[in-house]
Amino acid sequence: MNWKNLPGSNLVDVAFSYAPAKIILGGEHAVVYGQPALALAIDRGVRVAVSKAADVNGPILRAINLGFVGEVRPDPDGQGPVVLREALARLAKILGREARNLHFAVDSDVPVGCGLGSSAALSVALVRGIHRFWGLDLVQEQEAGLALDLEKIFHGNPSGIDHTVISSGGLIYYRKTGEVAAVQSVVPAHKLKFAVGISGPHGGTARAVSLLKERSRRHPDIYVGIFSSIGEIVAQMKRSIEEGRLAALGELMDLNQGFLNSLGVSTPKLEALCSIARERGALGAKLTGAGCGGAVIALVEDDPEEVVRAFQAAGYVAFSTQCEVGR
Ligand code: MEV
Repeated sequence: MNWKNLPGSNLVDVAFSYAPAKIILGGEHAVVYGQPALALAIDRGVRVAVSKAADVNGPILRAINLGFVGEVRPDPDGQGPVVLREALARLAKILGREARNLHFAVDSDVPVGCGLGSSAALSVALVRGIHRFWGLDLVQEQEAGLALDLEKIFHGNPSGIDHTVISSGGLIYYRKTGEVAAVQSVVPAHKLKFAVGISGPHGGTARAVSLLKERSRRHPDIYVGIFSSIGEIVAQMKRSIEEGRLAALGELMDLNQGFLNSLGVSTPKLEALCSIARERGALGAKLTGAGCGGAVIALVEDDPEEVVRAFQAAGYVAFSTQCEVGR
């Protein structure tokens, strides 16, 4: 579908869209080196209302809650976070003149810059909202492709797992070989429930990925070995999820965390969150996403609230979440 080929008869005054946040269950970072990873959409996300602005110097984004509150325009010297201004400029470039009077009101309950996919959720919700506003149909691959274009502004050269799972929803097993991504939907035998603890914002995914690349160049054979061990962990995670072996899945999450720590993307706070979770009976715990700050996910058998309260008692923002699919 060509974004510039707009069927005017289908225009609506306001269109609403939503895209969920995500967690990576296993395989982050290794996925950038061709290993598989598992990711799932969670029950938090980004909401966008698209309407027509009187102003033609847009697109304009009004953040109701996006880590900040205020108006952003594609203006290099304007207000608001620079990545958002660049993303709007990119949208304007892709969409052409028709984008100049688009107005986005954005609300989110996803902590920003914490490895939970807030930027990918924003990218997907914007793409979805614009298409609804213009009355255009989009198949999922097209939506994911356009969202990836925006995501590159936020993340440099991402593996693509974030916007893929956010666009598809559910739980996916993802592997990218060269430019080709293989995506398999995974159906858990039991609903997966997590406590999420936030250590604070990380320094950016692109930065974490590039620091790791630099380190891996110094000891390539060792890093290749670690990435392939993580790949094996992820393959076993997939089997335990499908067979409903939650204790095994928790153990594999702990193993994955050990490797993430040795890759240098864990922090004392992330390790502390993992320890709190395990002491409170979580089946396993690990950082999720880029690390170097951000969030820890702890898998629990029944009620995540005890671990959530323990995270909060230690001074961390925390909440419970679950995979949208599974019984
Ligand atoms: C970020 O959510 C996951 C990373 O593996 C980067 C990527 O896959 O693009 C760290």
